Amino acid sequence: MFSNLPSPNLDPILSLAQAFRSDPRSEKVDLGIGVYKNSDGDTPVMQAVTKAQDIVFEKEKTKSYVGLAGCEEFNGLIRNLVLGSSVDPERTTTIQTPGASGALRMLGDLVKAAKPETTVWISDPSYVNHRPVMEAAGLKVRHYCYFDRETKQVNLDKMMSDLAQAGSEDIVLLHGSCHNPTGADIDFDAWKLITKMSLKNGFVPFVDVAYQGFGDGLIQDVEGVRYMASNVEEMLITTSCSKSFGLYRERAGAAIVVNNSQSQANNVKGKMLTLARATYTFPPAHGAELVKTILSSEELTSCWENELVQMRQRLMSLRGALCEELRITHNTHKFDFIEKHKGMFTMLGFSQEQMTVLKDKYGVYGVGDGRINIAGLTEKDIPYVAEAIIKVA
Ligand code: LMR
Repeated sequence: MFSNLPSPNLDPILSLAQAFRSDPRSEKVDLGIGVYKNSDGDTPVMQAVTKAQDIVFEKEKTKSYVGLAGCEEFNGLIRNLVLGSSVDPERTTTIQTPGASGALRMLGDLVKAAKPETTVWISDPSYVNHRPVMEAAGLKVRHYCYFDRETKQVNLDKMMSDLAQAGSEDIVLLHGSCHNPTGADIDFDAWKLITKMSLKNGFVPFVDVAYQGFGDGLIQDVEGVRYMASNVEEMLITTSCSKSFGLYRERAGAAIVVNNSQSQANNVKGKMLTLARATYTFPPAHGAELVKTILSSEELTSCWENELVQMRQRLMSLRGALCEELRITHNTHKFDFIEKHKGMFTMLGFSQEQMTVLKDKYGVYGVGDGRINIAGLTEKDIPYVAEAIIKVA
């Protein structure tokens, strides 16, 4: 039965993590998969999460099933975290999903069920899993220009002229903030322009919010999303607790749909529950329970927010320190763009070959498309990584 299956294409991010683990060199730096590391190189459990875990452990009396939509309290809290009061909750549908990749697939399946001929426009480049998930859902994928490899910023003119081709049969997938893999974000004016274009041309915006709090702040990172949600009739949103709550392996995420009416919201919810039933049935409970516990307690929320601020500030200081090292020790301003990027990632603008040399010769593991994870750096790695970048450039 399986003899015709071709040998698999390895995932460019996950296969890198595997290669890093089996690299025997002591001087190696993992700037591949998007996880936050502290100055000891560890990915800590956030204190708010540890406290929530104690509470959940005390209170938990059963491991029986939750519903197909997961924890409804979590759904309400996570919707508020992303959308605030930008849209009437009655018009929204939110279900808990296994991580944000699970949410992407859920919304891809929903679109496929509603309009099978839909094309999803994704940025060039985009998160490596966007295309595979949308194609696995049976949708067509097209790219819109996004990143200018010269300026290392968004090429908004080209982006808008590509998006002008998207019409009422199309979905446009955007990144809420901290664009993965480039680190280059659109500004609030661009969000307004895209919203206007969506209203004029009829495409449905789809926003992936995976790094809320890692760019400019919890509210600032979703300002564009909220503006859009308050202006359009329909919109799709995925959100992740992996980075913002450090809950990577717990797979806590949500799929949110902004609908044109309350009755549509009910139908959409029904369809999503049917889709969930036919795939994973119930989402994993623990991570969402922790997030619910944090977000429903003022004390834990403020503890979590403070930790998130510290992580964001540390990321910004790592960006600054790397640029400083490149400027002062290596006398170049060529990499100053690293400081302007947001969130975990920066696109160095290196070719696949250069990224291979960076990995094979210097043990610095970044993704083949030129992405490095700034959140994977520790302060002590900076001189070594800066030197390797200069040697490869
Ligand atoms: C990443 O982009 O490194 C993360 O989002 C991990 C993943 O799922 O690929």
